[in-house]
Amino acid sequence: MKKKIVFSGIQPSGNLTIGNYIGVIKQWVKMQEIYNCIFCIVDLHSLTQCNNKLKLDKTILDTLALYLACGINPNKSIIFVQSHVSEHTKLSWILSCYTYYGELNRMTQFKNNKIKNKNINSGILFYPILMSSDILLYNTNYVPIGEDQKQHIELCRNIANRFNKIFGNIFNIPKPCILKNGSRILSLQEPYKKMSKSDNNSNNVIYLLDNKIDIFKKIKFAKTDSEKNPKIKYDIIKKPGLSNLLNIFSGITGKTIKQLEKEFYGKLYIDLKYKIIKILSIFLERIQKNYYNIRKNEDFLKNIIFEGSKKANKIAKKTISKINSKLKLY
Ligand code: TRP
Repeated sequence: MKKKIVFSGIQPSGNLTIGNYIGVIKQWVKMQEIYNCIFCIVDLHSLTQCNNKLKLDKTILDTLALYLACGINPNKSIIFVQSHVSEHTKLSWILSCYTYYGELNRMTQFKNNKIKNKNINSGILFYPILMSSDILLYNTNYVPIGEDQKQHIELCRNIANRFNKIFGNIFNIPKPCILKNGSRILSLQEPYKKMSKSDNNSNNVIYLLDNKIDIFKKIKFAKTDSEKNPKIKYDIIKKPGLSNLLNIFSGITGKTIKQLEKEFYGKLYIDLKYKIIKILSIFLERIQKNYYNIRKNEDFLKNIIFEGSKKANKIAKKTISKINSKLKLY
C-alpha cells in the first residue's frame, strides 16, 4: 500500500519553544517512521510580520538545525523552504478566488490580530489561504499541528472540497492531527494564553535554546494557584498553571498525566517544579549539543534545503500542471 503523506510547517523564527516541540515536532519525529513526511519552513508566512529587520537567511538555517537536533531526519523526510517553490504563491492566488472574504474574516487568529494591531496588512487576512496551498500542493493526507491551527485546516478542507466539486478530484482532503494533551502548552506566567515564541515577556516561554539558569528561574516562578491544601491534580480550568506544568512534564517524558498524579501524590508544587527543572535541563542540554554541532556546518544545512526543494518542486509542479489544464491557464 502507498504510504500516506504528512505535511507540516513552522515559521523560521529560529527560536522554537518547548510548546513547538511537545505540540508538533515530537509528532513529526514519530510520523517520519511511518509516513512520507514533508516539512516546510514557511518563510513567506513570516513576511506577514512586516518587519524589515527579519533576517530570514540566518533564521531559516537556525530553524533547520533545530529540527535536525530534535530528530527530524533528512534521509527520511523532505525538508524545504516555502519560497523556493514558487507554486505556493501561484496556488495561493488561485485558491483565493475560491475563498469567500467572510470565511477569512471569521478566522480566530485573524480576529485576534485585528484587535491587537490597528494597522494590519492583508497578508494576515490571506495567511490561511497560503497555508492551504502549502498543504494541498502535496496531496497531503495528514497535517500535524497545534490546537490553534485547527480552524485553518477546517478552512483548507472547505476550499479543497469546493474546488473538487467544480473541477473534479484534484485535491486530497487533509485531516488535522492534534495531540489530546500537550497540543496547547500555555504561557508560564499567564496560563490562559498559548506559550508563544513571539511573547514580549520571555519568562512566559521556555525556548529550546534556554540555558540552565533560565530554565530554573522560569519554572521555579511559573504561576500556579494558591489553594489552601494544594494537590497535584490535573484540572485545566481551575488549575491551569499546574496543569500546564503537568502537560510539559508528560510531553517531555512520555509519562501519562495519571502516572504523574500518582507519582506526585501528597507532594508539594515545588517538588514537581524541581523535578521538571531537572528533566528539562537534561532534555534541552542534549538538543542544544546536537544543535550547536549541526549549526556550524552551513554547507551541510544548505545542501539539505537544496535537495529538499528539488523534491518538493517536482511534486508541486505536477499538482499545478493539473490545475492549469483544468482552469485553462498556461
Ligand atoms: N500556520 C502554521 C503555524 O503558525 C504554520 C504553517 C504554515 C503550517 N503552513 C502550514 C502548518 C501548513 C501546517 C501546514 O503554526
